[in-house]
Amino acid sequence: MGKKKILVTGGTGFIGSHTVVELQQNGYEVIIVDNLSNSSIEVLDNIAKISGIMPAFEKFDLSDQILTSAFMKRHSDISGVIHFAAFKAVGESMEKPLDYYRNNLMSLINLLEGMKVNKITSIVFSSSCTVYGQPDVLPVTEKAPIKEAWSPYGNTKQMCEEILRFSTMANTLKAIALRYFNPIGAHDSALIGELPIGTPNNLVPFITQTAIGKRECLSVFGNDYNTPDGTAVRDYIHVVDLAKAHVIAVERMLNGKCKLDLEIFNLGTGIGYSVLDMINAFEEASGEKLNYRIVPRRPGDIEMVWADTRFANSELGWKAEKNINEMMLSAWNWEKALFSRQPK
Ligand code: UD1
Repeated sequence: MGKKKILVTGGTGFIGSHTVVELQQNGYEVIIVDNLSNSSIEVLDNIAKISGIMPAFEKFDLSDQILTSAFMKRHSDISGVIHFAAFKAVGESMEKPLDYYRNNLMSLINLLEGMKVNKITSIVFSSSCTVYGQPDVLPVTEKAPIKEAWSPYGNTKQMCEEILRFSTMANTLKAIALRYFNPIGAHDSALIGELPIGTPNNLVPFITQTAIGKRECLSVFGNDYNTPDGTAVRDYIHVVDLAKAHVIAVERMLNGKCKLDLEIFNLGTGIGYSVLDMINAFEEASGEKLNYRIVPRRPGDIEMVWADTRFANSELGWKAEKNINEMMLSAWNWEKALFSRQPK
């Protein structure tokens, strides 16, 4: 029997590219669809350098129904879909809410329609711990209530989960929504990693860019939170651990092991680190001193969140393995690799 073919949307992005590598290394054939709106075509070569296999690739926008439907008709041999492609900047979503709703919702709807025509019944969806808002109880379990969204971005994740829930009720579709906590780090090869276009919004790329000299100073957003050192606490998870969970989720679906039509899993380590913890972890892993200052809170930020990982551990048989030192070291090695590739 030939290899099973998985469609990875957003496969040239940060989490997507790491997942493509893991899929290939586990014997899957991958076809990527990405509009390259927040990633670069060179990622494909770097995936091939790691796995020895160049993934198939098509560049188009999944929010275009005609293009998506035509694509699905051309690829009727797809066994399952992992849907990463989406806009993900919280701040930007506050300024351009309709862009976020159109892109994130329409892409999913078009994909699901195409899957239905082709009788593809398995989809893994990129969700986020943002659906919980500020949880009342920590660590947060999958059963925690969904709170009113703080941003259009977060709202699109909630709405997409609802679209999946009702779609799985209406037909034979099976879906797994993976709620990521804070994915960071890069592949050990330093060939793929996070590549923010412009000024990074996220903490770790801002840290590594500051250390390499691209940014002058890291702003720590608030030290007056009700946390041990006053800075906000998150559950950071290595992107390769996250990628491995996707392979397990796909396998679970293709082998008919899902217990519910829509299954939901938290993907985190279960450990909370503050912003100052992260700065210390970076300094220890890299041996570099980081220039930072405390500034007021960033609007929309929650105080603290970390995952209850027991359900993912027991049901998926998956556990995050890499510690904070490995996360920071890989992120730093990736930043240094990017720097050395720059034209001088
Ligand atoms: C946010 C979203 C998350 C989304 C992710 C994708 C929420 C609650 N979280 O994560 O769902 O998937 O973006 O981009 O909506 N920080 C600084 N200085 C900086 C940058 C960040 O101090 O320059 C702090 C933040 O205040 C926060 C922590 O670092 O406490 C992590 O921030 P970030 O990496 O942006 O992720 P989240 O906001 O947690």
